[in-house]
Amino acid sequence: MVSAGNEALWRARVFDERRAADVAALEEVRRQPDTVTLDHRARLRDELSGLRDLPDRRIVDEPCRWVHYPWRRELVGIIGPQSFSLVRLDRNRNKITRDEQARLRRLRVGIVGLSVGNAIAQALALEGLCGELRLADFDSIDLSNLNRIPVGITDVGVNKAVVAARRIAELDPYLSVSVHTAGVTDASVDAMVDGLDLVVEECDSLDVKMSVRRAARGRGIPVIMETTDRGLLDIERFDLEPQRPLFHGLLGDLDEASVAGLTAQEKIPYALALLSAAELSVKMAASLVEVGSTLSTWPQLGSEVLAGASAVATAVRRFGLGESLPSGRVRIDSGTLLNGLRDPLVDDDGSHSDIPESSVESAVAPTRPADGVEAVLEAIRWAPSGGNAQPWSLQVDGPLIHIHADRDRTSLMDVDGRATHVAIGAAVYNAKVAAAAHGILGHTVLLPDPDSVDLVATVTLGDHRNQFLAQRYPSMLERRTNRGVGARVPIDRGLEDALGDAARDEGGRLHLYTDPHELAAFGDVVGAADRIRYLTPMLHEQMIGELRWPGSDTARTGIDIRTLGLGNGEGAFLDVVRRSDVVTRLARWGAGEALGISARDRITSSSALGVVTVPGSRLEDYVRGGSAAEAVWVCAQENGFGVQPMSPVFLYARDSYDCVRLSDPFASELDALRVSMRGLLDLSGEESIALVLRLSHCPPETVRSARLPANRIRR
Ligand SMILES: Cc1cc2nc3c(=O)[nH]c(=O)nc-3n(C[C@H](O)[C@H](O)[C@H](O)COP(=O)(O)O)c2cc1C
Repeated sequence: MVSAGNEALWRARVFDERRAADVAALEEVRRQPDTVTLDHRARLRDELSGLRDLPDRRIVDEPCRWVHYPWRRELVGIIGPQSFSLVRLDRNRNKITRDEQARLRRLRVGIVGLSVGNAIAQALALEGLCGELRLADFDSIDLSNLNRIPVGITDVGVNKAVVAARRIAELDPYLSVSVHTAGVTDASVDAMVDGLDLVVEECDSLDVKMSVRRAARGRGIPVIMETTDRGLLDIERFDLEPQRPLFHGLLGDLDEASVAGLTAQEKIPYALALLSAAELSVKMAASLVEVGSTLSTWPQLGSEVLAGASAVATAVRRFGLGESLPSGRVRIDSGTLLNGLRDPLVDDDGSHSDIPESSVESAVAPTRPADGVEAVLEAIRWAPSGGNAQPWSLQVDGPLIHIHADRDRTSLMDVDGRATHVAIGAAVYNAKVAAAAHGILGHTVLLPDPDSVDLVATVTLGDHRNQFLAQRYPSMLERRTNRGVGARVPIDRGLEDALGDAARDEGGRLHLYTDPHELAAFGDVVGAADRIRYLTPMLHEQMIGELRWPGSDTARTGIDIRTLGLGNGEGAFLDVVRRSDVVTRLARWGAGEALGISARDRITSSSALGVVTVPGSRLEDYVRGGSAAEAVWVCAQENGFGVQPMSPVFLYARDSYDCVRLSDPFASELDALRVSMRGLLDLSGEESIALVLRLSHCPPETVRSARLPANRIRR
């Protein structure tokens, strides 16, 4: 029987002052002399307006309500139902997104047995895992329940379902709850389960357990049960398997009629079969032997009840969201799991796993061979390249040094090899500087052989002298990427001119930006592109694949993470966002704004952003652009500035088709960013960006990313 009975015992009454009847009833409550009024409306409205990412700002105008709790004699002013739910469940996000919350609100759940079921009901209500709860228990609270039912001494003597319903109403007066104070009987079982999506069965009586399951199975409703000893969670998916035997068949073909006639003693073997006696904890098993002599009934611990509620809530959430939840049993046994305590820095074999900073191999650096040819080759070897891929191979033929593109060391961002050509352009500049320093400067021909597209440059050694280039030799060898966040020290006019000249001498043009607003505009574009780089699976995989953890591998390509200039907390952030499952989830949510913050902040905190462009868009233009960028880089570093290339992922895309190749899902967003970057630079026609450099005033970088050994890049 549904005991609508005295609903005032457990149902909070919600008043909406837009309704005349409610206004009158509210007045009546207010007139009761012992009513205490708590007006939380302003405070809750403040919380509501403080929420981030509100789906619709108009929600702040939702009318408030008054809620009367007769058993507390309290009248509380709160925000309306939708606002209430947004605020109350905001901290669920995004472990449970707003969309998922809405789906879960459609779930109708019945709980039979409100001892263990009390904690389960609270967990479901607390987490917002259902929109309707039906609670059934005939029993009332005893003092001896208070070791495991999280209620109070004032609840002793009150029906267990009523107590649970009250706490839920105090938590969320808008949640639809009904109460069956007669428990579940043969007569009421149909009314109890009819129309539910899920039943949680937590009663002690074998015949009620059976009749609840039979009624649920007949309606295709799944049943979840938790038996607290060693955290046994039990799932019966009658919705998916309408013929599935009750209790997985553990009780054979026993039915309610035969159970009803059994004495308590005779029921024990069945109860033990249900609990998998062999797997009971020792103390539980031994205690069962004592039941009836030194113990009145079997023991149950509050912590186990709460842990069981958490397991059930997790299962209900999976069910409600259509995630995997097959029929079966599992033990979520924290007692046993605690035996697995391990020192996080010690591997299973007892060795220490992590890499204390000091144990890292000492830094690598270029050498200064006396021999001119060797010096030129060494200078090329230490040229910068995207992701430190070193996409080149070298062939020495008398006075000729051929630099070939190595197509195996490329990436998605290297659209049509443009980044490779920029890197080789930087290598050509280095080669010229080393040659000049050794008095063997000659000339360079770009893409000398139309039949060999991989031959990007031939550096011919000669006997020219160029004092200006020769003087760059020490600083060229010292050049490195500096990713630190610096102080915004201004760049003086003289240096601006010198940087511009350096680019021009190599056939490029430097666009230099120092105005904070302009830096912010570039920062926004590069930051937004970085976000897309994280959220596109292949780009993310390649970006993370470029990173090298010191001591963890011997690859001599890629970027040593010690050179990332990671500030406080950024290392831990990287540990999160390097995970493909994490970024996939962010992409699914259309979220991840924070992924662009690091690039944006680095640009806005810089002294300047220098964009090196070239007049054309052929591959040889990109090679010249690389030389120009390297010349700017060396000059800036010589003058005390740290330099970091900041390559937005679209940097080497030339049109919308290239953007599709980079990231199908974000192609149009990328293309728009590409166009706005060109707009910020006011680029005309074929003018192309070779490299974007951020100049900042920060301490010199001490670590260098390694290079492949000379013999690995020689043909
Ligand atoms: C075409 C190109 C693109 C690059 N893009 C970036 C970038 O987006 N971010 C970055 O931190 N470094 C970038 N770099 C710098 C390289 O990662 C760096 O040169 C390489 O790791 C070698 O380290 P080093 O410059 O300290 O010798 C780029 C370099 C080149 C040549």
